Amino acid sequence: MTATIPPMTVPGDKSIAHRALMLAALAQGESRLFNLPAGLDVRSTQRALGALGVTMRREGDVLVVSGGAGTLIAPPEPIDCGNSGTTIRLLTGLLATRAIVATLDGDASLRARPMRRVAAPLAAFGARIELSPAGTAPLVVHGNAAARGAAVAIEVPSAQVKSAVLFAALGAHGPTRLTGQLATRDHTERLFEAFGVRCRHDGDALVVEGPQTPQATQLHVPGDLSSAAFLLAAAAAVPGAHATLDDVGLNPTRTAFLDVLRRFGADVEVSQTSTGPEPHGRVSVRGARLSAVVIAPGEVPGLIDELPLVGVLGAFAHGRTSVSGAAELRVKESDRIDTFAHAARALGIEVETAPDGFAVRGPATLHDGAVVTAGDHRIAMAFAVAGHAAGIDVRLDDPDCMAVSFPGFARALDGVR
Ligand code: S3P
Repeated sequence: MTATIPPMTVPGDKSIAHRALMLAALAQGESRLFNLPAGLDVRSTQRALGALGVTMRREGDVLVVSGGAGTLIAPPEPIDCGNSGTTIRLLTGLLATRAIVATLDGDASLRARPMRRVAAPLAAFGARIELSPAGTAPLVVHGNAAARGAAVAIEVPSAQVKSAVLFAALGAHGPTRLTGQLATRDHTERLFEAFGVRCRHDGDALVVEGPQTPQATQLHVPGDLSSAAFLLAAAAAVPGAHATLDDVGLNPTRTAFLDVLRRFGADVEVSQTSTGPEPHGRVSVRGARLSAVVIAPGEVPGLIDELPLVGVLGAFAHGRTSVSGAAELRVKESDRIDTFAHAARALGIEVETAPDGFAVRGPATLHDGAVVTAGDHRIAMAFAVAGHAAGIDVRLDDPDCMAVSFPGFARALDGVR
């Protein structure tokens, strides 16, 4: 018999929070955002908006944002986006069609990540975006407030790129039509609707008529499924272990990991308690004897942040777990194929790597070891899960990096039994 453990919660969804803050910043009037996460990435967006002249105040657990596109000011100094790819890329889009010149920068990891993927499509709005010769930050956005709507083909399956263009479309005059790789998380589209912005599907295209001013609103940010995933995996990997999480975001473009847990053989129960612009509910997972899974290229966009965790679960599963078509992992907060492989090997896990993925042979006999996280929060949490589930001592070189998305993760993980 397992003792009954009360449901846990996880910090609010990072992707939703960035977008809600940016829409609230553009909206006329006061927006009230509930359950914003305290992680460093979302703080980076808040700080950046503050530097652009947006005023925000706390009222208990609520952040009240006073917006208005007309009140944006050119920041006197470079804006530090910290470790946050979503902050820098979405903000570049937002500023591309405003009368603002701004320098956006970040930490060493962010400075190594590709920015041409946003600069190139935003050029269609007449915005000039200066990048380093390597195509990276620091970048300077020279926004074009006279921008006309544009036809833009999205070439990378990245919600950040799609969203940068959607934010730019809000300030452009006339229709912007996006085509191409649009099948990624759809939080921007959903939050546009929540903030009264019209955005329609026209066949395979997404169309936004600009200019549009978002309407201030109230929004509850549900728990982040990509943070919940670590606690759910910690339960899944140990037969009989259990985790129940309340108020977890269940947007269908984000729930692929729950199906992967089922394919591994874990017992997963989901009950949606709320629809709203972003559905959420309760998720329970019970661990079992796991069998290997194969992740196909088409599944990658829906699982992008969970793939290191899939690799860790592969070490507990019988057979060869593999991921392919995931070259995008190489340009995340670290090269997540190499950092994953080095860390896994340090604990005795057998890993093969490829330019676009990796494979893990399980079940592995894990031993104590030291893990180099490369400052990557998701690598750190994935291997903390490995340590917890295998009952081994995993020494992370930078446990603090987990605060990028999940402050207090180690304590939460202790609650999974
Ligand atoms: C995000 C999109 C994904 C994801 C990141 C958050 C977003 O990045 O990895 O953690 O909020 O749009 P890409 O768009 O680069 O795939």
